[in-house]
Amino acid sequence: MSEHDDEILGKAYDPRLMRRVWSFARPHRRIIFLSMALFPLVAALELLQPWLTKIAIDRYILPGDWAGLTWVAAAYLACLLGLYGLRVAVSYLTQLAGQRVMHDLRAALFAHLQRQDAAFMDRNPVGRLMTRLLNDVEAISELFASGAAAVVGDVLTLAGIVVLMLVLNWELALVTFALVPVLAVGAAYFRLKARDSYRGVRIRLARLNAFLQESLQGMSIIQLFARERREAELFGALNGELRRAQFRSTRFDAFLYAGVEALGSAAAALLLWYGGGQVLTGALTFGGLVAFLEYVGRFFLPIRDLGAKYTVLQAATVSAERIFALLDAEASVRPPASGARGFETGAPAVEFRHVWFAYEGEEWVLRDCSFEVAPGERVALVGPTGEGKSTIVRLMTRSYEVTRGQVLVGGRDVREWDLTALRRAVGMVPQEVFLFTGTVEENLRVVGGGAVVSREAIDRALQAARADRVVASLPHGLAHEIHERGQNLSQGQRQLLAIARALIYNPAVLALDEATSSVDPESEALIRAGLEELVQGRTSVAIAHRLSTIQTCDRILVLHRGRVREAGRHAELLAAGGFYARLYELQFGTGRT
Ligand SMILES: Nc1ncnc2c1ncn2[C@@H]1O[C@H](COP(=O)(O)OP(=O)(O)O)[C@@H](O)[C@H]1O
Ligand SMILES: [Mg+2]
Repeated sequence: MSEHDDEILGKAYDPRLMRRVWSFARPHRRIIFLSMALFPLVAALELLQPWLTKIAIDRYILPGDWAGLTWVAAAYLACLLGLYGLRVAVSYLTQLAGQRVMHDLRAALFAHLQRQDAAFMDRNPVGRLMTRLLNDVEAISELFASGAAAVVGDVLTLAGIVVLMLVLNWELALVTFALVPVLAVGAAYFRLKARDSYRGVRIRLARLNAFLQESLQGMSIIQLFARERREAELFGALNGELRRAQFRSTRFDAFLYAGVEALGSAAAALLLWYGGGQVLTGALTFGGLVAFLEYVGRFFLPIRDLGAKYTVLQAATVSAERIFALLDAEASVRPPASGARGFETGAPAVEFRHVWFAYEGEEWVLRDCSFEVAPGERVALVGPTGEGKSTIVRLMTRSYEVTRGQVLVGGRDVREWDLTALRRAVGMVPQEVFLFTGTVEENLRVVGGGAVVSREAIDRALQAARADRVVASLPHGLAHEIHERGQNLSQGQRQLLAIARALIYNPAVLALDEATSSVDPESEALIRAGLEELVQGRTSVAIAHRLSTIQTCDRILVLHRGRVREAGRHAELLAAGGFYARLYELQFGTGRT
């Protein structure tokens, strides 16, 4: 989460954005309109109360009419109950609308993110995407729940109060209105200050968040290197900054609230004195004065809160802008509407034709890289670290788009393939095994396109991959829960499961990114046996870190400077004494075998 994410700046209202927000609110417009329809009723009842007080005093209390007074008191109570019921209904409806819009927005965003390619994920840190999905969506729902809707109600109430005060006594009304500019300026000043300090709070909260995330994830490392003290100091500093910022922001709020109270009381004192005089001269009834004081009390609050609502609107606008920018981001990997689903007969299983590729700008990872893999051929890819071996595998499954040239699978450009079909045709055993939170069985069943996998197929795959013993050793077998990307399994166990998972796909081409880090010898032997099973009778492209892989493959492709520099069998390449021979010596230690 960067600091930039949490700035609340910019315009508060943008008609184009609001139209798009409305497009999400439209399906729930009936709820929204219903709640809006209740606002005039709420305003009317709110204005009725002081008026009833006036009637009670002038008509019944002063003349001493008990029976009449009882009626007015009953009416007052009914008014109160009605107001209570309406407020509950309004709050229920606006919250309901807000939550539903929020739900739809989150769903739209998540669906959109699922369509994004790997390059998009590289560009957008997870923290930022989470902020969009959670905080920004929340800011928009606030607009429904407390912001825009409540403003309509406030304005109605204010207008009513102004009219009634003028009707009661216009001179007194004008005296009261004279105080409005003072309040407005004061409120605006404190609101601005409060907003600045609020932004400060958000920035510091984001910093603390980022720190905590890193620190907690690396806790075992921190303890291992005895860095607790230093981390605690860093945390203490960030924590203190947050406390100070938070305190600053509450101070402005306190000033604002107390200020409005004080102003209201001052107005009441002024009116008591001036209005009292009016009563004495008979220009105003006693009940009128009491009602007037009540109206004044209700007059300042909406003005005070208008500033808060403006902030809500501003935050929602900024959030809407970010959310829609995200929704508008087009994935560069866009599969055709009805793509190819199978191989062309006689075509090479995989072919790279003059492929140029860079993750960023002109930093070429592959430069004019060309090679072919025949159907059924077992190819090993070797090269120094960072040379682009994993990249080649990613391009085969179209996780990234090539810059120039073509990648073909089964004789068809990957851009012509249906994406799900392509990813089932090219099975991947990644270098870093990714397991989802869920049971082992769920992890094995994650076949694209919702294909049904039978229990027999799973058992067969587990057996073939030698992973059946892994599953048997788990306390709950296939129903064993995997946590945090498989941290509760050993690396060897995870790899065996990944191999089984790739076998369930039954892919035509296998792409193996062998793990660089070694596992224990027993797992190693199992994995080798599993892999052997995996590549039987299949086209395979293996990024080789194991001696056994390069010795048993049909052909070795040696990658250097972004292209295939040497190709051939292990013994041939060694005998040639070229780049491969040197690399082999470096990676596997011995020049012989
Ligand atoms: N997601 C990425 N974003 C930017 N650069 C990347 C990314 N992945 C890999 N690279 C860079 O591309 C180059 C090739 O990486 P990779 O294909 O993983 O190498 P290998 O698997 O041969 O070790 C490296 O220089 C690496 O730093
Ligand atoms: Mg790699």
